[in-house]
Amino acid sequence: MSTASDNFDAWIRSSFRQMNTELEDLYFAQEDRANVEGIGETTKKALADEGLGFIRPLVAEGNTNEAFERTFATLGNLGLFFAALRRHELTNPAREHKSPFDEASALGMHMGASLGVVPRFANVHLNHHNRAVDGQPKSFTSLKDEKIFNDYNTFSILCYQRAGDALSRIPPLGVSNPAATLLFRDAHAALADVFKYNEMLFEKMDADRFFYCVRPYFKPYRVGRQEYRGANAGDFAAINEIDLLLGLCRGNDPYYSQLLVDKMLYMTPDDQARLRTSLATRPLLDEFIEASDRYAGREWFKTNAALFLDVCAAHGKAASQHHDRLVNTFIVKMSRELEQRHMAQITASGPPLPVLMKALEKLRDLRAAAPSTEFETAHAKLARLKRALGG
Ligand code: HEM
Repeated sequence: MSTASDNFDAWIRSSFRQMNTELEDLYFAQEDRANVEGIGETTKKALADEGLGFIRPLVAEGNTNEAFERTFATLGNLGLFFAALRRHELTNPAREHKSPFDEASALGMHMGASLGVVPRFANVHLNHHNRAVDGQPKSFTSLKDEKIFNDYNTFSILCYQRAGDALSRIPPLGVSNPAATLLFRDAHAALADVFKYNEMLFEKMDADRFFYCVRPYFKPYRVGRQEYRGANAGDFAAINEIDLLLGLCRGNDPYYSQLLVDKMLYMTPDDQARLRTSLATRPLLDEFIEASDRYAGREWFKTNAALFLDVCAAHGKAASQHHDRLVNTFIVKMSRELEQRHMAQITASGPPLPVLMKALEKLRDLRAAAPSTEFETAHAKLARLKRALGG
């Protein structure tokens, strides 16, 4: 990194984290924990002033032509700074037409446009592209519960990536290939690990601390004129690769393709490319359905189709867990106790909570291949496959 980006990075890992932690402790000690008005004003001002002081030399430097990972890390640092300004209400897209931070916006747009990603921080900056220094990845605060959230999100994403990688190697081999047996087993084990790490996250993280001190950093904010939705742990390709390759979700489903288009630029360019490849690949479910007419009695079919069904079930189980345990416990239940005046923009993407919940429920049901009368899921096709296996 250039000296300017090194300095900014060092600040993000030290004073920035310290000031956010200080502010979180002040907010959390109030009776109304969601209030940020009139609290810690000197610290908030210092945070904004110091950050902008590190950003100015970077703006002057322009495009430093550094390797992807370095520029992406600087964009992440800038994004963390913006997200903190938003969290402490030093900016709010609802009351502004453009970001009040012109220079910082220019830097974000310059880097985002040159990298082919959104000019804001995405979850990946805190997860699988979050370089640790001396054992410590970047974070907004040094709160224990933020660390739990970031660590377990990362573990879970890495497991999804293992599963996506295994499944993506099957289409060129064909579903009757003995090597597909091994890959289905790998994908299944990886999805079982997703479930395990999500369960650990559920057990370990304090709901109050998450809701009041971590989640508020994931809100939408403006860069330049444009408002960008908040980051969420879903901004990586593997989960959609799994959806599409298994055939539980379809690229020609308007609901699902909208979701993919919306998240495309929140992912790294290599993830974008992986997603495009899986959109152009025939789903494994369709391969098995076709094969079931001719080869249902064959050993390879019995083995691989059964494993395929196990992988689908494991994917559905983790999706249901995300919705029914994580979203429900850490967002929905917590929101019920929030005063009405704080309800605006409770979710990362911005829509009112009931609207978001409905959309997430649909996603859960698609992944779980639930029987649905409202929209098509893979339920009937999976049942057909089970019958072909004699189930
Ligand atoms: C306490 C933990 C978590 C909570 C409260 C939570 C909550 C949410 C919420 C509210 C959304 C919708 C975002 C929005 O548009 O506002 C979301 C999306 C998503 N989250 Fe989580 N999440 C948690 C952990 C995780 C973990 C560990 C993963 C695993 C990688 C994950 C994967 C996803 C994915 C893939 C999406 C995008 C929608 C989808 O494809 O399902 N989340 N999450």
